[in-house]
Amino acid sequence: MAVIGASRTPGKIGHEILRNIINFGFKGNIYPVNPHVDEVLGLRCFPSMREVPDQVDLAIISVPSRAVARVVDECGASGVKAVAVISSGFREIGQADLEKEVVRRARRYGMRLLGPNIFGLVYTPSKLNASFGPLHVHPGKVAFITQSGAIGISLMSWTILEHVGLSAVVSVGNKADVDDADLLEFFADDPNSSVILIYMEGLTSGRRFMEAALKATAKKPVITIKAGRTKRGSMAAASHTGSMAGSDEVYRAAFRQTGVLLASSVEEAFDWAEALVADFELRGENLLIITNGGGAGVLAADASELLGLRLMGMSPNLRKKFRALMPYYGSVENPVDLTATADGDDYYGAIHAAMGSDEVDAVIAIYCQTPYTDPTLIASRMIKAMEGLRAEVRKPLVICGIGGVEVEKALRMLEEAGIPAFPTPERAVMAMAALFKYYEYREEVMRKTSEN
Ligand code: COA
Repeated sequence: MAVIGASRTPGKIGHEILRNIINFGFKGNIYPVNPHVDEVLGLRCFPSMREVPDQVDLAIISVPSRAVARVVDECGASGVKAVAVISSGFREIGQADLEKEVVRRARRYGMRLLGPNIFGLVYTPSKLNASFGPLHVHPGKVAFITQSGAIGISLMSWTILEHVGLSAVVSVGNKADVDDADLLEFFADDPNSSVILIYMEGLTSGRRFMEAALKATAKKPVITIKAGRTKRGSMAAASHTGSMAGSDEVYRAAFRQTGVLLASSVEEAFDWAEALVADFELRGENLLIITNGGGAGVLAADASELLGLRLMGMSPNLRKKFRALMPYYGSVENPVDLTATADGDDYYGAIHAAMGSDEVDAVIAIYCQTPYTDPTLIASRMIKAMEGLRAEVRKPLVICGIGGVEVEKALRMLEEAGIPAFPTPERAVMAMAALFKYYEYREEVMRKTSEN
């Protein structure tokens, strides 16, 4: 890799990108390029790309926009395969011609170009953090493609907090060459990514996106946050990344047809990613809710019905299993109410009973904090129950924990164990609904494919 514009000054973008590449543990060779200095961050620095004595796969360009075209030429002449242009100052400020010229030069040498106007890219399987975002990213299987720097950077920090890991973060900026369709094609076949999440303001080629999305969603879930859906929002997008945000209706129809899940907020998108990245397989539509609080059960039942999820009826056999786990005043209807005295062993038993039953396809388990139960103990019993089941059972389990700091801790423990966990019944149900929606879509695709 090369970093062109590898500044000697801490705090400058080129310096910070180089520092992240080194400190995140990239194992390949790293070549800083800067004509004004011999060494940066302990690495020998080269005056130009032409002096770099190696074949460079990717050059990160962090020099002012007026110098980018020349640097791209140098990269091409030196056999660089691809460039990522961090620099702003192109189409987004009316300099579309300069942007076109830069792309034209890259193409002349057969190089692909990411950006311009980006914060960089991260690929955790290769221990590559070529961004000026935070150094630490929780590794995992969500690939994030983002047209917003701030949202990409905040997601990188959020992964540490929520234990939802990322395989990649790709800042696409103005998408002058590499766009969402290219990246969808790549991540659809990337074994290190199992969910693709996109923050998008506009598309350059809707048709190409739809073709790539159709192929990708047949293999793994694709979640999109589409910004610029209102008049003022689309005006803001135009000056942010120079994008044409387009008609909301058209985007909605395109996403629906191609099985792309459209999230209405960043929170929703992240929640869906958390649920969809867990290693689940949905086989039917029988949803069971387990709770220790009647009210929370009612809220979850409402949210389920409003989102079209079917709360299953209870067979005598299931009733009998749950009756044994609760006092006489508990309820064996759906939502199953274990009552407020339910402890870790009761949740262990309930999760076992539900997840182990052939009648049940998916489970939402709700815990409301009570003075006589320890949330972290409950979480550890839930995790234990799932550990015992995981070898054979891949049906979805989503947890909701309502309460204070201790519940927060319990939710983190669950997430760390790969179990999606949320602080409200509505968010847990919405995450489950995303799972249902994706699997229904995929089943439909598979049915149509087998018919043809
Ligand atoms: N080849 C190699 N290095 C070069 C060079 C060239 N042709 N031209 C200049 N440099 C060196 C400079 O000497 C400097 O190093 P130094 O600090 O050790 O002297 C370094 O490259 C950076 O150049 P400088 O002119 O100081 O620019 P800068 O660091 O202030 O800004 C950008 C460069 C790219 C960061 C800035 O122009 C920019 O676009 N910022 C916005 C980026 C952004 O927000 N992107 C979108 C995020 S979502």
